[in-house]
Amino acid sequence: MSKNIVVLSGSPRKNGNTARLAAAFIEGAKAAGKEVAFFDVAKMHIGGCLGCGYCFKNEGVCVQKDDMPPILAALRQADALVLASPVYYFGVSAQIKLAIDRFFALLKVGMPVKRAALLMPCGDPTVDAAAASIGMFRQICAYQKWEEAGIVIAPSLHEPGEIEGRAELDLARKLGGNI
Ligand SMILES: Cc1cc2nc3c(=O)[nH]c(=O)nc-3n(C[C@H](O)[C@H](O)[C@H](O)COP(=O)(O)O)c2cc1C
Repeated sequence: MSKNIVVLSGSPRKNGNTARLAAAFIEGAKAAGKEVAFFDVAKMHIGGCLGCGYCFKNEGVCVQKDDMPPILAALRQADALVLASPVYYFGVSAQIKLAIDRFFALLKVGMPVKRAALLMPCGDPTVDAAAASIGMFRQICAYQKWEEAGIVIAPSLHEPGEIEGRAELDLARKLGGNI
C-alpha cells in the first residue's frame, strides 16, 4: 500500500472530467489516510526538457527555473504516482507530457515511486481513443519498474463535468483507497 501519492492533472478545463476523476481518486486516497500532493500542471509554467544533461551532473536538479521543481521534490518523497489527462489527439495532453518528460531529471538519482495509475476521459464512445496513452503509460511503468496500479478510462465525455454520476468516478475513488 502506498502512503505518499503525487497526482498530476493535465487538463486546462476548470472542473472538467479529468479534474473530477483526479478529485475522486484523491477523495478515496485521503479517506484511506494517504498523503496526496496534487499538481494542476496545465495551470503551471513547465517548459519542455532541454535534454542538456545538467540534471545528471547536478543531483537531479534541473537547469530550468520554472514550476517543475516542486513536482520533482514531491516525486522524490512519493511511493505512488497518478497521471490524469484528457485524450488530446489520441495521446495525453501536451501540458502533462511536458511534466512527464521532465521526470528525466530524476533518472540518475532515482525516485521511490513503486506504483502508478492512469485516469483518462475521452470524447470517443470507446476506450480505443486512449490506446496510445495506455501504451505510453505501460512502457513508462515497465521502464521505471513501477507496478501498474490501475487504469480508468472514461469514454463519451464532451462537456466539462459530464462525468458526474458515472461509474468511473467510483472506480477512481476505489483506486485511491487501494493504491
Ligand atoms: C484539443 C482536444 C483534442 C481532443 N482529442 C480527442 C481525441 O483524440 N480522442 C477523443 O476521444 N477525445 C478527444 N478530445 C475530447 C476530450 O478528451 C474529452 O472531451 C475530455 O472529456 C476532456 O476532458 P476535460 O473535461 O478534463 O477537459 C479532445 C478534446 C480537445 C479539447
